[in-house]
Amino acid sequence: MEQGNKKKNAAAKDKRQKLVDATMRRHGHSPYALIETLHTVQEVYGYLDDENLKYVAESLRVPLSKVYGVATFYHFFTLKPQGEHTAVVCTGTACYIKGVPGILSALREKFFVEAGETTEDNKLSVLTARCIGSCGLAPAVVFDGEIAGAVTPDIVVERVGRLLEQ
Ligand code: FES
Repeated sequence: MEQGNKKKNAAAKDKRQKLVDATMRRHGHSPYALIETLHTVQEVYGYLDDENLKYVAESLRVPLSKVYGVATFYHFFTLKPQGEHTAVVCTGTACYIKGVPGILSALREKFFVEAGETTEDNKLSVLTARCIGSCGLAPAVVFDGEIAGAVTPDIVVERVGRLLEQ
């Protein structure tokens, strides 16, 4: 069972990567695709992290410094949150109708954190993404980079609780 979940997680991870790759391909891997590609990264991961910024820089053959420049210049981009742990809640349509509001209120009630914010102790950042490419798993939440599908508010609270114990 655990094995099966791991496979599912890996497949879902690939889907996010594929969406990023598809954006770059659509633009012929041109350096001009930078902003659009960063948008896709943010949409599927919820934020821009070092690993993805490096990957995009290499794929589009743009200096990493420029990629960081663009990522920090525009207010609509969010760099990797300061929380020690992250929960990225997918708020795309499929996930939303399958219970995202309940998930976000459970996080608010139990951990006193709103979407887009980090807890006061800097332990947890809650972010949202717009369709992470795994609608079949809706509603989906990514806990520290690991996708979990068909989650309920209780499951989310339990998973986050476990993360915070680490
Ligand atoms: S809407 Fe959540 S994965 Fe597509």
